[in-house]
Amino acid sequence: MKVCVVGASGKLGRYMVQHCLDRDYEVVCVCREKSIDKLAEFGDRITIVPGQTDDREVIGRAVAGCDGVLTVLMPRGVKGYSTGTAEAVLAAAEPGARLIFSCGWHISRDGKDVYPRMLKLQVAVFGPIARLLRFADLDDQVEACDRIFASDTEWTVVRGSDLEEGPSEGLPVWSRHVGDPILESNRTRRIDFALFMVAALTGDDLVREAPAITSRQSESAKAHQPPAS
Ligand SMILES: NC(=O)c1ccc[n+]([C@@H]2O[C@H](COP(=O)([O-])OP(=O)(O)OC[C@H]3O[C@@H](n4cnc5c(N)ncnc54)[C@H](OP(=O)(O)O)[C@@H]3O)[C@@H](O)[C@H]2O)c1
Repeated sequence: MKVCVVGASGKLGRYMVQHCLDRDYEVVCVCREKSIDKLAEFGDRITIVPGQTDDREVIGRAVAGCDGVLTVLMPRGVKGYSTGTAEAVLAAAEPGARLIFSCGWHISRDGKDVYPRMLKLQVAVFGPIARLLRFADLDDQVEACDRIFASDTEWTVVRGSDLEEGPSEGLPVWSRHVGDPILESNRTRRIDFALFMVAALTGDDLVREAPAITSRQSESAKAHQPPAS
């Protein structure tokens, strides 16, 4: 399998590259020119296409021939970086390729998510401040995901809970709506967020789904997981 990781040099991206290499996938990475050094640990086991992730020419070259594309959606700046990145991937990917995108719980596909008070507060406070400082635009990530949801490609939007570092706790559990009891713990190891993204490449049950995830070792997951058969 040949996989492109868009936004490969960040923390989530590097975990995804490692998981792909562990599976012997051929890996193509897109990252900004100034961040290439952050991929040095992978040496010649990866191909790097340097450039902005919302550059259609860059993405077109990177995803050519790929069976899957793993995209880190980041709402950086206020010029539609997330939306431009999503559009570039949706337009350039091979027909039938599995397209997996990352975002946070704050994204809602159908408006039926029930959010913890703290998350609502974070979005209400951080959103306007980040936009005012021209640091990030959460609405851009919302717009990017709306365009993905409307696409007829083989997409999956993985909605990460609060993230933490540490060794793997296994493949996270998921549910369709934030507010479902299994997700209540709201914590996932970043390495496992990446694991879920990579596993989604081959998970047919996740096509055109927007799973919200949490660690399988969290209290809520342990309390609400169906018993193993
Ligand atoms: N952080 C959280 O608590 C959290 C919670 C839930 C979901 N998520 C989701 O998880 C994903 C990864 O988030 P993360 O926080 O863990 O970040 P991350 O993996 O460290 O990734 C940051 C990404 O943003 C890029 N970036 C940084 N500054 C930029 C700029 N000025 N212009 C363009 N790109 C820039 C980085 O590229 P360079 O390497 O080139 O700098 C890198 O690809 C995102 O989709 C996020 O929505 C995060």
